[in-house]
Amino acid sequence: MIINFNSKGDNNRGFLTAIESAKDLPFEIKRVYYINKIPVGIRRGFHAHHQLVQCLIAISGSCKILMDYGNEDKQIFELNAPFLGLIINKMVWHEMYDFSDDCVLLALASDYYNEGDYIRSYDKFIEIVKK
Ligand code: TYD
Repeated sequence: MIINFNSKGDNNRGFLTAIESAKDLPFEIKRVYYINKIPVGIRRGFHAHHQLVQCLIAISGSCKILMDYGNEDKQIFELNAPFLGLIINKMVWHEMYDFSDDCVLLALASDYYNEGDYIRSYDKFIEIVKK
């Protein structure tokens, strides 16, 4: 799901985008992280989460996100504007790629970092989806 956040501003003064936890997002934000300076050709992610829900925003530059639901259904989104958020629900295998040099990919997450919530094996992900 793509969320179009309300951006205020104009070309004279620039733009401001505000995101309020649980109002503009379908969850409470407990953690924020971002990735940047991703070398050309690198793909990241390669995991799903048991419970975590996230919203990804390319606050600078652009990148693509592959979302795989484990049932032959896949979607590719391009994030290329700081007012676009992509919700990654729990149990969605995701990979991020085609990062522009200036890409800063911000993640708003529904919970604290917990390695135990990660599914890092694609085979295991498929096995859980099929159960
Ligand atoms: P990693 O899962 O490899 O990132 P990606 O999903 O983009 O491929 O995470 C990189 C490192 O950062 C790894 O050592 C775990 C750590 N990390 C944290 O400490 N806190 C966090 O909130 C996240 C997302 C990762």
